Amino acid sequence: MVEAIPLRKFIFVRVTGPCTAPLIGGHIQEPHHDTLKGLFRGKAHSKMIALGIEGSANKLGVGLILHPAKGGPARILANIRHTYVSPPGEGFLPKDTAKHHRAWITRLVKKAMKEAGITVDDLDCICYTKGPGMGAPLQSVAVAARMLSLLWGKELVGVNHCVGHIEMGREITGAQNPVVLYVSGGNTQVIAYAEQRYRIFGEALDIAVGNCLDRFARTLNISNDPAPGYNIEQLAKQGVHLLDLPYAVKGMDCSFSGILASIDILAASLKANPGQVDSFTGGPITTADLCFSLQETVFAMLVEITERAMAHVGSNQVLIVGGVGCNERLQEMMGLMARDRGGSVFAIDERFCIDNGIMIAHAGLLAYRTGFRTLLDESTCTQRFRTDEVYVKWRD
Ligand code: FE2
Repeated sequence: MVEAIPLRKFIFVRVTGPCTAPLIGGHIQEPHHDTLKGLFRGKAHSKMIALGIEGSANKLGVGLILHPAKGGPARILANIRHTYVSPPGEGFLPKDTAKHHRAWITRLVKKAMKEAGITVDDLDCICYTKGPGMGAPLQSVAVAARMLSLLWGKELVGVNHCVGHIEMGREITGAQNPVVLYVSGGNTQVIAYAEQRYRIFGEALDIAVGNCLDRFARTLNISNDPAPGYNIEQLAKQGVHLLDLPYAVKGMDCSFSGILASIDILAASLKANPGQVDSFTGGPITTADLCFSLQETVFAMLVEITERAMAHVGSNQVLIVGGVGCNERLQEMMGLMARDRGGSVFAIDERFCIDNGIMIAHAGLLAYRTGFRTLLDESTCTQRFRTDEVYVKWRD
């Protein structure tokens, strides 16, 4: 059972004119003007409820959020998730993940509606992850959203996954204008807001940091349950020796594939010669030391580029979102950096950090309230959908 949680108060933006600009994904919604005028006359001062469906990777999430009338605190009515867990040593394949999502989506939507205690009539729109993500899982979610839209007669809102993370993080923490570090299995980006866009200041040039950690979990053949990165984190807590690894920051960007290759070599060497000792302490080198060294190295890189972005934009707030954002060591390292700059770090727990349906519902409803709709004919999904493609009309 998911507890309904009151969120911080948000600013209600009253829409006074028709939508004339592209909002998400470059769609201009001129045909909806008449509908919108009626909508805003009738709904601008009443509560709005959105259903959100997320399934861009191995988590299938369904969330229901309520934005109350006149800017009262938003409420989470339901936020449930079911994860496809692949066997140890294996990643999750698109085909199998999509099959999982198709098998669970109806159950999750029913359960969410029941937990929220609402009916279809209470819903204003259906939000779904348009991208980025893995093709087949995204398709399964888009098909489910279209099916519900037709079945229930509700409008669709296609949502950028990264913007969903950012808006949910801002909503939960109350961070006003932070530099955002978005770190997950599929994405690594340092982002700051300027003039209606979430601008990418730095990003991974090859694999995402979460993918680096997940793939090393496969190398070690450790469990993917509840998540490979979580199990690496627990092992890293027992590590004491910091081993030498490449440090690959290139300007504002990072590279992780060479670090993964290096740690894989160290792991193979340790497996072949288990009796290795650290040249400085004389203590035995362990698998935990490998996890510790990998985390310390890649997190130091992330902290460096985040700090540089903070200096560029003059911000003293950092918001960490995405699945890797749950990592307590990353939060601690970022906190030390922010403290030294006289700033603060905002982090959220796994309910909102890891991919979830409520973030899609929330970001989708923010866009919906500014007049954005995704027409049925355009309700596609895409593996490539950059954060800065989204026109953020709901912020000043
Ligand atoms: Fe994500």
